[in-house]
Amino acid sequence: MRKKIVAGNWKMNTTPVEGVELAKGVAEGKKEVCDCVNFIVCPPFTHLSEVVKVTRGTGIAVGAQDCATEAKGAYTGEVAASMIASLGVEYVILGHSERRQYYGETSETLNKKMVQAYANNLTPIYCVGESLDERKAGKHFDVCKAQIEEVVFNLTPEQFSKLIIAYEPVWAIGTGETATAEQAQEIHAYIREVLASKFGEAAAETPILYGGSCKPSNAAEIFAKEDVDGGLIGGAALKAEDFLAIGKGF
Ligand code: PGA
Repeated sequence: MRKKIVAGNWKMNTTPVEGVELAKGVAEGKKEVCDCVNFIVCPPFTHLSEVVKVTRGTGIAVGAQDCATEAKGAYTGEVAASMIASLGVEYVILGHSERRQYYGETSETLNKKMVQAYANNLTPIYCVGESLDERKAGKHFDVCKAQIEEVVFNLTPEQFSKLIIAYEPVWAIGTGETATAEQAQEIHAYIREVLASKFGEAAAETPILYGGSCKPSNAAEIFAKEDVDGGLIGGAALKAEDFLAIGKGF
C-alpha cells in the first residue's frame, strides 16, 4: 500500500503570522479527514520554525521549498539542508518547475541538492513535468524520463525507497488548467515504469503526486487513478478549508 499524501506548496505567499494561522487551521481541521492521508505543509523558510512548533503532535509534517547545493560556507542568501533539518523539518521540495525556469536549476544542481537533502535526513519531493510546447510536441514522456534519469537514477536503492515524486505539468501550474485524470494516470504509470527500470519492485512503493491546479472540485477524480498517490497543491493550499477538502478526495 502506497502512502497517500497531500502536500501544500505555499510558494512565496503569506507573512509568518498568516502562515502560522494557516498551519493551525490545517491542524485543527485534520481530524475530519481520514487518518490515512499524510498532510505536509511547505511554507517559506522564514516561517519554518514557527510552523514546526504549531504542527508538532498534530500529524502534520513540514517541508521546505528548496535547499542549498552546498553544506555551508560563503553562499550568500542560501539556506543549507542541515539548517532546515535542525528545525524539525522532514521534507524538501526539489526541482520545482519555477526553480528550474526562473532560477536556472539543472540536473547538475539538483543532484547536489539531493545529496544535501539525504545527508540531513530530509525526504525530497522531486518535481518533474513538461512545458506546454513539450506537451504539444508529444515530448512529455521524454522530458519526464530525462528529469528522472539524470537525477533520481543517481540515488542508492536505500535513498530511493524514501523518495516522493511530484508530476507537475508546467502548463497546469497556477493556470486553472488541470491535466485530465486520464492524462495524469497515463504519465504517472509511465514514470513508475521508468523508476522500475532502475529500481525494480521498489518503484511500486514510490508515492507519485499530481500537481497543477489541483483543487477540491477535481482532486477526487484525479486521486482515484491507480498511479496517483496524492497531490502537490499550490494555490488551493493557501486556504485551510480547501487544502483539507482536497485530502477528502481519497
Ligand atoms: P498550483 O501549483 O496548484 O497553484 O497550480 C502547484 C505547484 O506548483 O506546486
